[in-house]
Amino acid sequence: MNVLVIHGPNLNALGSREPHIYGSLTLEEIDARIAREALGLGIRVTSVQHSSEGAIVDEFHAAVGSYDGIVLNPAAYTHYAYALRDAIAAVDLPTVEVHLSNPHAREEFRARSVVAAVCRGSIAGFGVESYVLALRALAALHRG
Ligand code: DQA
Repeated sequence: MNVLVIHGPNLNALGSREPHIYGSLTLEEIDARIAREALGLGIRVTSVQHSSEGAIVDEFHAAVGSYDGIVLNPAAYTHYAYALRDAIAAVDLPTVEVHLSNPHAREEFRARSVVAAVCRGSIAGFGVESYVLALRALAALHRG
């Protein structure tokens, strides 16, 4: 099984970015935790980070035929990015929306996800474990 992990904008700054909200792990450390979990699950995982919505849209289209599932932290795009929403809907790949924080416990604008309805499911609020749980969910789906 091949899984693509996509981190959205500002997640490259994890570690120093609002650690009281997002924790103190860097993106590199998060990717290492994801890779370790993937190894245990027998998943081949690739992680990328993009700041622009277009680059994330391109990843979705390019993933067809190469990946069996996608773990996506859309970051702020979660709340308003319709082109990203349409890209998820356009490709037939199970996508799990993840968030480190619980957006519902924060500012009002974060309570709305424009991508949730086209994702297979959403996991939020567990820090790096949100990604780990998403991988496990995709592995279980794949096993059938
Ligand atoms: C986030 C939550 C978003 O609201 C925010 O814009 C982010 C990170 C999270 O992982 O908790 O950049 O997706």
